[in-house]
Amino acid sequence: MKKTYTGVRGTSDFSPREAAFLNHIVQTARNIFKIFGYEEIILPVLEEEGVFSRGVGETSDIVEKQMFKIARRSEEASSDIVLRPEGTAQVVRYYLENSLHKQSDFYKFCYIGPMFRGERPQKGRLRQFHHIGAEAIGSDSPYIDAEMINLAMRILGGVGVSQKELKINSLGCAQDKQKFSKDLKEKLTERKNELCPDCLRRLEKNPLRVLDCKEESCKRVVASLKLGTAHLCDSCKKQFNEVCRILTDLGISYIHEPYLVRGLDYYTNTVFEIISKGIGSCDAIGAGGRYNALINDLGGPAIPALGFALGIERVMLALSSPQASEKLDVFIANLGEAATAAGFKLLEEMRNEKIPADMDYCSKSLKAQLRYAQRLGVRFVAIIGEEELKEGVVVLKDMGASTQVKVKKEEFIVELKKQAQH
Ligand code: HAM
Repeated sequence: MKKTYTGVRGTSDFSPREAAFLNHIVQTARNIFKIFGYEEIILPVLEEEGVFSRGVGETSDIVEKQMFKIARRSEEASSDIVLRPEGTAQVVRYYLENSLHKQSDFYKFCYIGPMFRGERPQKGRLRQFHHIGAEAIGSDSPYIDAEMINLAMRILGGVGVSQKELKINSLGCAQDKQKFSKDLKEKLTERKNELCPDCLRRLEKNPLRVLDCKEESCKRVVASLKLGTAHLCDSCKKQFNEVCRILTDLGISYIHEPYLVRGLDYYTNTVFEIISKGIGSCDAIGAGGRYNALINDLGGPAIPALGFALGIERVMLALSSPQASEKLDVFIANLGEAATAAGFKLLEEMRNEKIPADMDYCSKSLKAQLRYAQRLGVRFVAIIGEEELKEGVVVLKDMGASTQVKVKKEEFIVELKKQAQH
């Protein structure tokens, strides 16, 4: 017996129904992006490793342990090639490579596509998943922070996610973040013996990451720390208060979560996460924030920017059942060779009229063809047998109403359109 294969662990296949569901989410997002003035870009899944090791940060989990490296010939690139784990550093690479900052001082981009992370797979955590993302580059106005959060919430609302909770925080500017990190290190060092081995390492390299740890003992230590906004300088505090005020004006409720730092090192100032309870422990359906130092870190000028990404698979989990997939309008049931040829011609005519239609290619019995049509969920079946051929007619059967009429072949499409209106 020949070996059969299963899909790669941590990847998922989308059935026609699930693919239609995903496309519905993507289409809703595209419509909302348009209303908000975000232009779509499509970037490759392959990038140089440096884009992420320098962009996302050497101490982030993504870079430390989750990147999928692609074998390459040594002469081809200056650094290893990886499957992109996220879109933000990549958008900045695109922005700088094309010197976009020299053409305009403000850009709004959106992107949709697969991302790859070598994580331990579980419900809601995949190795290949899809992002719907947006980035706005060139402004540090609190209004754009609020717009970005509003945009993410609107997309989620637009696809029907009603159960969602927005958590926000501010890490402050680079100096504030440094101060936050130093204070945290001091506090955590006193409780060193309660931290997990990973966090002991984090304590040395990047103490902020301890706040993200999922280990119970670390969570207990973190919960007992009295964190607030003390690390913020006056200007960052004012900025954060403004973001909160604008969100309130927009009618968007939020929770200020002083422990929210996010696992990507590029964040500064506003960070946010949108949680959907009831989808398991991987409950963040979207997240984002400011990255005012990233463009500079990747070799460009100091330009403020921010964005978010929604995880499509998690959004799908948050919406209990997939919507119905695209349905065909008409199925042609044909009986015999000559009827198949006539049916194939009629099918082409319907498709030219943009009527979603299909026919039987398996020489099934009429009963089996009608059963198949029922499974497809079509409203109409066009029956062509030898008798109909002789008479130059087609039987138009309305599956919902269980009625049928004989229609002249030349008048079939007109009659179909007439009946479809009822
Ligand atoms: P992130 O939080 O790493 O942010 O990912 C955003 C969302 O992608 C998460 O909230 C989650 O819904 C989904 N996601 C992440 N990892 C997985 C996984 N392994 N399996 C399934 N879904 C997953 C970013 O990637 C940033 N680039 C967002 C951003 C844009 N920040 C600023 N601009």
